[in-house]
This record gives sequence, structure tokens and C-alpha cells, in this order.
Amino acid sequence: MYKILKAEKLADKIYLMDVEAPRIAKACQPGEFVIVRMDERGERIPLTICDYDREKGTVTIVFQIVGASTERMAGLKTGDSFIDVVGPLGNPSEFVHDDLEEVKNRKYLFVAGGVGTAPVYPQVKWLKEHGVSVDVIMGSKTKDLLILEDEMRTVAGNLYVTTDDGSYERKGMVTEVIKDLVVNQGKKYDVCVAIGPMIMMKFTCLMTKELGIPTIVSLNPVMVDGTGMCGACRVSVGGEVKFACVDGPEFDGHLVNFDEAMKRQQMYKTEEGRALLRLHE
Ligand code: NAD
Ligand code: FES
Repeated sequence: MYKILKAEKLADKIYLMDVEAPRIAKACQPGEFVIVRMDERGERIPLTICDYDREKGTVTIVFQIVGASTERMAGLKTGDSFIDVVGPLGNPSEFVHDDLEEVKNRKYLFVAGGVGTAPVYPQVKWLKEHGVSVDVIMGSKTKDLLILEDEMRTVAGNLYVTTDDGSYERKGMVTEVIKDLVVNQGKKYDVCVAIGPMIMMKFTCLMTKELGIPTIVSLNPVMVDGTGMCGACRVSVGGEVKFACVDGPEFDGHLVNFDEAMKRQQMYKTEEGRALLRLHE
């Protein structure tokens, strides 16, 4: 059993939990994810690791209520347990294994959209701990949905916050801030890392392609086993079939077929769609 040591509501329908999982906490790296299960019959829910404490033996997960399982999960309290937390799964972010001197010479721009801020945080934190200062754009629909702002402020070199409705800081979507920084302010970036809703990653990639900035995205398609067996997490990257769970979750954003990925994500939302996908799997 994996005990919940902290359960906190961050915003409407968005929750944070510190879970006791010493072996995962010891081994995990930014970019990787876990799959949690509440009980024997529970759905397997993939979640990117938001933070980890190797000494305390905890991993932090952040999730949004999107269906029955996550709604039930939101009801868990401090002291409750998950029956299963499997991980770390997937591959760490590229910079973890790159030559540190090369990483230090790169100018990074992180783009975090909504709940996607959670997986961006450990990457920016890792880079700061290794002496790399990066720019971060955080976008949310409205002020009340902004999460982890204080945490991000402590690790980001420059933080640019934007809300779609202008209720806090800048007004507009993350793509408008990218344009402002690069086109109007003349900032130069070697790599952009964009994590958030699929539609945000699609439009960020269209913009960074135009601006000539290589871009990495983290995909979160529906997953079942998380070990490359079922094919549920299939995505097309550069015309090739990839499994997000074992080949990703990070990919070259300029090569991802976002329209197909979004179509599959939508189909999984209905019973008929899921049946149809099973038929074609
Ligand atoms: P959201 O809809 O509030 O969007 C966040 C920000 O993305 C917006 O504020 C805006 O700046 C930007 N954005 C949205 N549409 C855009 C567009 N068309 N063009 C440019 N920018 C755009 O985000 P949310 O409700 O928190 O998102 C939830 C989604 O994020 C879920 O679908 C979830 O699956 C996904 N998610 C993805 C990951 C991942 O690893 N990729 C992690 C967590 C959550
Ligand atoms: Fe089954 Fe990736 S989740 S292959």
C-alpha cells in the first residue's frame, strides 16, 4: 500500500498529493510518470511526477478531475492509501542525460499550460539545481486556476504569467507571450519545452516552428498498461507509430501529429468511441 501523506486542493477540480513510495522517489527523474490505482478493480491512472523527495521517500502527483475515477481519487484524504503506484515509467527529459556543459550553454524556454504546470515544475527545478537558469511561461484560463505559481517562482529564472481572461498578470494565451518575447523583445531560445493541453502544444509548436525553435512536448494520451503492451497510447511522430509510455512521453513537437492524437483522446471519452478504437486496435 502507498500511503498519502498530504492531500491538498490546489484549485477547482485540481488536487495535489504526496505519496509514500520510497523506491520510486529514489529512482525517478524529471519527465517520468507513475500509474496509480485506488483498489483491485480501480482504473489505472497515469500521472506525471510533479516532485519527489528522495530523503522522505515521497513523490508528488497533481491531477484534475476528468471522470469518475479521478473524482473518486479527489475524495482520498491524508492517511488513505493507493493499492498500487507503479513507476517510474517512461523516459526522463533529454537534458538529464545530456552533457551538463552543453545543457548550461542552451537557452531554454518552458511553456506550462494549466495542469501541465505540474510536470514542468520538476524539470525547471532540476535545471536550477544544476546551475541552469531558464525562462518559464505559465498560462491558465483564469487567476483561480493558476497552480504552483510560488513554487515555480523559486526555480524559474524569469517567470511570465498569463491568463486567458486577463484576471491576473498578462492577458492572453501562452503563444502570445512566446511571440512577445521572441519577436518584440528579441529573446533567443535554443529549446522550447511545452507541456499542457494538446491544443496548446499544437499551437505552440506551430509558432515555434515558424520561429525556428526546436520544441519538445510531453504527451499524455490514454494509457492502460504503461509498459508498451496494449497500444492504447499510440501516437504518430514523424509518420512513425510510437507508444507514449515507452518511447516517450516526450517527443519532438514539430513531428507530432496532434490532430490524430486529439481525435483519439476525444474518442476515448465516450463508450462508443472506446469500443470503436478497440475494434481497430
Ligand atoms: P487550459 O485549457 O486551461 O489551458 C492552459 C493554457 O493553455 C491556456 O491558459 C492557454 O494559455 C493555453 N492554450 C489553450 N488553448 C490554446 C490555443 N488554442 N492556443 C494557444 N494556447 C492555448 O488547461 P487545463 O484545463 O489545465 O488543461 C487540462 C488538459 O491538460 C487536460 O486535457 C490534460 O490531459 C492536459 N495535461 C497534459 C499534461 C501533459 O503531460 N501533456 C499534463 C497534465 C495535464
Ligand atoms: Fe499500453 Fe502504452 S499504455 S502501450
